[in-house]
Amino acid sequence: MPTILAVESSCDETSVAIVTNRNVIANVVASQIKLHEQYGGVVPELASRRHLEMINPCIDQAMTESGLSWSDIDAIASTVTPGLVGSLIVGVTAAKTLAMVHNKPFLGIHHLEGHIYASYLGEPSLKPPFLCLLVSGGHTSLIHVIKSGVYKTIGSTRDDAAGEAFDKVARLLNLSYPGGPIIDKLAKEGNPHAFKLPEGKVSLPNNQGYHPYDSSFSGLKTAMLRLIQGLQKENLDSLPVADLCASFQYTVAQALTKRAIRACLDLNLDTIAVGGGVAANSALRNTLQAEAQNHNLQVFFPPLKYCTDNGAMIACAGEEHFINKMRSPLSLGVSSRMNL
Ligand code: KG4
Ligand code: ZN
Repeated sequence: MPTILAVESSCDETSVAIVTNRNVIANVVASQIKLHEQYGGVVPELASRRHLEMINPCIDQAMTESGLSWSDIDAIASTVTPGLVGSLIVGVTAAKTLAMVHNKPFLGIHHLEGHIYASYLGEPSLKPPFLCLLVSGGHTSLIHVIKSGVYKTIGSTRDDAAGEAFDKVARLLNLSYPGGPIIDKLAKEGNPHAFKLPEGKVSLPNNQGYHPYDSSFSGLKTAMLRLIQGLQKENLDSLPVADLCASFQYTVAQALTKRAIRACLDLNLDTIAVGGGVAANSALRNTLQAEAQNHNLQVFFPPLKYCTDNGAMIACAGEEHFINKMRSPLSLGVSSRMNL
């Protein structure tokens, strides 16, 4: 089995990992959360500068932790798209340099393919075809994984991504960044049925009902804003933050679960693999698990540390590219957006 070293720097985590046979040998993640927290979101210029500072220490640490030498590494992978261009350039340049210096093949990886492969890290027996529910800060997609490397996106968001909605609602509640894990924690003390919120259905043209797989979270975000403003006018001693978090999180989990189950049944699949930062959400985990069981479907969630951005998922996807004899030219550039 090949051994792949991968770099991930598409947003606010600098990560370098080494994977062989879908086994993680090392996974170093330098998070920039503290750096961006004060701004309430990722500042691209600061992100790329921090990647530049952290990339070499992360490579050194991953090699040290693995106990391997460069001759043990078969290829160098890196996320090339989508993401913040300045951030991607740092990781890709480091990966290409390693490939040149150590004379290894270079493998350019799509970040979303990485999130799909995170599922294999927790469940090495997982095999296509399956449905991937990919819910991160930038994406909310339902992807039919037809076979190795063959993907069909059947649903996406019309506006905000699920993670983005968590982060924006957290800001409305004066919570810090990233909002997802904080809302998840506060929701544990709240009543998910305290407030009824709109699920965000996407209408089909000519009054033909709703799109079964697409989502929309901007209406939910606006409903939260109106609700919070209304409660503030009541001059309460304090906002019922836990109930607000629980009701919001419940609505998102319901919306995602309904679409994933429906797609899985429509496509005659029996397995859903969930990926992306929002896959860490406890309400989504519980709701989807319970509904899947009701329909005799299997659900796999990656271990929490592989839900948010990490190099191990990129190395895992890179291993598949390497086995399938796919190689990327060193002239391959980065790009902020690209379909899977
Ligand atoms: O996959 P990821 O690390 O980065 C992107 O590729 O976007 O996802 C980050 C997103 C953030 O929006 C964060 O708030 C959200 O994942 N997130 C969560 C939880 N943990 C992270 N959302 C809800 N519940 C969580 N426990
Ligand atoms: Zn991601």
